[in-house]
Amino acid sequence: IYVPVLTIDGPSGSGKGTIAHRVAARLGFHVLDSGALYRLLGAAAKRHAVSIDNEPALEVLAAHLDVQFTADANGDAIIMLEGEDVSLEIRTEEAGRAASQVAVLPRVRNALLARQQAFRESPGLVADGRDMGTVVFPHADLKVFLTASAEARAERRYKQLLEKGFDASLAALIDDIRARDTRDMERSIAPLKPAEGALVLDSTDLGIEAVVQRVIDAARAAP
Ligand code: C5P
Repeated sequence: IYVPVLTIDGPSGSGKGTIAHRVAARLGFHVLDSGALYRLLGAAAKRHAVSIDNEPALEVLAAHLDVQFTADANGDAIIMLEGEDVSLEIRTEEAGRAASQVAVLPRVRNALLARQQAFRESPGLVADGRDMGTVVFPHADLKVFLTASAEARAERRYKQLLEKGFDASLAALIDDIRARDTRDMERSIAPLKPAEGALVLDSTDLGIEAVVQRVIDAARAAP
């Protein structure tokens, strides 16, 4: 039987993760958080004392990455690396930086390709990342590119950090987001850009539910 795929790509802080999970819940589909795989690889490199620019060693690590995606009683994602819960560890700014560094290596991306495609299981998949519609699932049934201004994305992150009791600087977060955007968009392999035929949504002035509804409507209208 045919297994549909819906891709949601976009820069960090655009709300992709939240949107992907809500759309998947509405449709009863599985979710692939591809950014988590790059974050997990960064964490695995740290554990195994592999340097973040050692491409051959990272390729081997990526091919054998021992990870498990589960959920707790509330349905929140739990991510295990080598049997250990790293759900919080991989969400730090440091882990995000390591992820975007290993993500520029072609052999690493290639080693993670089949693993990402294996998430396509019945009844369907919502895949969230940077190159889901351009590289990993080029024949996806619906491709969405979700953006928001750097200021709006930094502000969301700022609020999240304050809620968690962390200290934060909005100006530093804006700089950080711009730097990450540049790295993701200007890399030669699988750069961040809208896939051909992608539905481009700007969430700067749209609430989460409004974005979810537009994606669901587009998915229902897709051929
Ligand atoms: O989406 P998230 O912020 O978790 O991704 C972390 C980093 O992993 C991104 O900044 C990007 O460099 C990389 N990534 C990627 N391709 C994907 C998903 C994430 O290169 N499909």
